[in-house]
Amino acid sequence: MNALELLRTDHETVRGLFSTFSQAKEAGDVAQMGALQRTIFSELETHAAIEEEVFYPEAEQIGGEAQDLVNEGIEEHHVVKVLMGEIAALSPDDDAWVAKMTVLIENVEHHAEEEEDELFPQLREAFGDERLERMGAALAEAKQRRASGAAGEGSAQAAASGDEPTRDQLYEQAKEQDVAGRSTMTKDELAEAVDSDG
Ligand SMILES: [Fe+2]
Ligand SMILES: [Fe+2]
Repeated sequence: MNALELLRTDHETVRGLFSTFSQAKEAGDVAQMGALQRTIFSELETHAAIEEEVFYPEAEQIGGEAQDLVNEGIEEHHVVKVLMGEIAALSPDDDAWVAKMTVLIENVEHHAEEEEDELFPQLREAFGDERLERMGAALAEAKQRRASGAAGEGSAQAAASGDEPTRDQLYEQAKEQDVAGRSTMTKDELAEAVDSDG
């Protein structure tokens, strides 16, 4: 799956959750709204993280309008994260919780639409299929890594103290060595790039 397809699929997943949420809201089903909120937050946290780690650093290399859109995107992620923090501190039966969830949903819908309609076409134009496929693989790997990290608390420390460095550690090394194209590299590619650079 190329990067744009993967991100669009994520957007569709979240849109589906939003529509289920609005049905639960209509029905006044507070328990379901609370459950959906947790699923929505976990989807949004992962999606924002992989965009910031893999997708935005590539997209901003296009420069010009793409750079502006990435800068705005990062700020929009920030606003959503602030809202998520405030919502998490409230209870679903609180009016402010519902209001903040409504605003969060509106913000995310607007943000996803802007990415799809304004930023994605820039990447389609600037990057070839191969590069978009590589970015897709890097996004999928980042997602997978987050999923396994969340499943096994302490797995990062285990990896850190074990023989094998994590992708994050390899990425940091690659960054120090200024390895070109590091943000779309898989863990194995990073390991190789870092080694060969000494
Ligand atoms: Fe985004
Ligand atoms: Fe997105």
